[in-house]
Amino acid sequence: MNLADLNKIALAMVTPGKGILAADESSGTIKKRFDAIKVDSTEDNRRDYREMLFRSQEAMSKYISGVILYDETIWQNAKDGTPLVKLIEQAGSIPGIKVDEGTQALPNCPGELVTVGLDKLAERLKKYYERGARFAKWRAVIDIGSGAGSRGIPTMTAIRVNAHALARYAALCQAAQIVPIVEPEVLMDGDHDIDRCYEVTQRVLNRTFQELRVQRVALEGMILKPNMAISGKKCPKQASVQEVAEKTIRLLKSCVPAAVPGIAFLSGGQSDEEATAHLDAMNKIGHLPWRLTFSYGRALQAAPQKAWSGKPDNVPAGQRAFSHRARMNGLASTGNWEA
Ligand code: 13P
Repeated sequence: MNLADLNKIALAMVTPGKGILAADESSGTIKKRFDAIKVDSTEDNRRDYREMLFRSQEAMSKYISGVILYDETIWQNAKDGTPLVKLIEQAGSIPGIKVDEGTQALPNCPGELVTVGLDKLAERLKKYYERGARFAKWRAVIDIGSGAGSRGIPTMTAIRVNAHALARYAALCQAAQIVPIVEPEVLMDGDHDIDRCYEVTQRVLNRTFQELRVQRVALEGMILKPNMAISGKKCPKQASVQEVAEKTIRLLKSCVPAAVPGIAFLSGGQSDEEATAHLDAMNKIGHLPWRLTFSYGRALQAAPQKAWSGKPDNVPAGQRAFSHRARMNGLASTGNWEA
């Protein structure tokens, strides 16, 4: 491993004013997004849609430091035969790849999941590097139980096995000269309040960094992709933007070593504007040991998907919508966004 080079890529991924486009929806997830805009999820439509994003010159060159791709996309060519990876590189952005293979039920822990995909990962990373990927992503999913008996979920078992897999993945990435995005996502789907989210996320992050240390992952050569400390979607009491920002910063300061170059949040089901406002409010607090930016999927793509709706004539409108959201989040990454 060349740590200086890994650190350089990690810092480039969190360049002030820029952030990451998560365009790595699995075929199942992109189908759900396309169903919502009444577009068939064919290989060509998926290609056309992503080509539209990657050819959004303004967004890609000014506000998007890197793009997370799905396996299908990294091997696809644009309509004119140019590899999609090349479009990203030509815009001055860095190609990345989602390498986990989704989740499976965790034995002995009803309702909980473990992320899989470690088998043959070393070989796959080698091929992705040759194709141009310089960073990767692995997402662990931790649920917070809802309703009666909900204190039991997440179990410490689910937290430990997922942290262990994240660290295994991160170590393999660095050995392959690829920067790992370590994503332990605590879901915001339930009815829990912000303090319960804080408490669970703290346990998850502490365990994740413990495993990263045990497995000798170089913190300077990784990016953390966490959820924010936020109220569950179904919680009757929704925390304000300022409370989310203050609690998230306090939480991260207590768990994330300063050696980590950057933190790029997931949007996790927040609305476009909320995701921008939260990031902006955190950066306005300032005096942080790491750079804080976005690695949004839905919060960057909901608007362009709607504007495009599968019609070639709508490509310029889709690109405008994407560039707008990318610019707003770029401003938020330096605390310069105005509502
Ligand atoms: P969302 O921003 O839609 O949560 O997606 C980010 C991501 O990559 C989740 O793994």
